[in-house]
Amino acid sequence: MRTPPVVVVMGVAGTGKTTIGPLLAARLGVPYAEGDDFHPQANIAKMSAGVPLDDDDRQPWLDAIGGWAHERAGLGGVVSCSALKRSYRDRLRAAAPGVVFVHLAGDRSLIEDRMAHRQGHFMPTALLDSQFATLQPLQADEAGVAVDVCGSPENIAGRAVTALAALPGPAA
Ligand SMILES: Nc1ncnc2c1ncn2[C@@H]1O[C@H](COP(=O)(O)OP(=O)(O)OP(=O)(O)O)[C@@H](O)[C@H]1O
Ligand SMILES: [Mg+2]
Repeated sequence: MRTPPVVVVMGVAGTGKTTIGPLLAARLGVPYAEGDDFHPQANIAKMSAGVPLDDDDRQPWLDAIGGWAHERAGLGGVVSCSALKRSYRDRLRAAAPGVVFVHLAGDRSLIEDRMAHRQGHFMPTALLDSQFATLQPLQADEAGVAVDVCGSPENIAGRAVTALAALPGPAA
């Protein structure tokens, strides 16, 4: 039996992190944590005021997620975090070296369509533009997989499990 992985579910806003993350965790038999819940109060205040976070604001948030991932090392866990930039993922790996990423990847029109149907959230087109502009996909030296977000959430979670199982090394 392999050690259960510690997985960060990443991707742009609306790609399905909060939807797929718990399904993936259930399939792996590990707990799920919502990345948004790790923001310090100062970030929540900023976001509530409609002020975008800068990279300095993100450091304590990434460290808190990394801390959770570190605690789950050897036990397994799934946490959502957009982790759009390589530098954010480096920060997570610094705290939790064995972490693996599942990039929920999809084309813009599909994600835009899903966002349009989401209850209680409004996402301006410009925000999605900036998310795609910021996104730095996983690089060859980063442990992780990209999973296409077409199909049902259960189907996507199933493909993520299969892709993770095919990763080399003890981390997966
Ligand atoms: N595979 C899917 N099929 C259909 N609808 C989906 C699918 N995945 C997610 N959705 C819907 O798309 C919307 C966005 O999904 P979700 O909230 O999980 O994204 P997110 O990545 O967590 O976004 P955010 O970054 O804003 O937190 C939701 O309304 C969700 O129900
Ligand atoms: Mg979410």
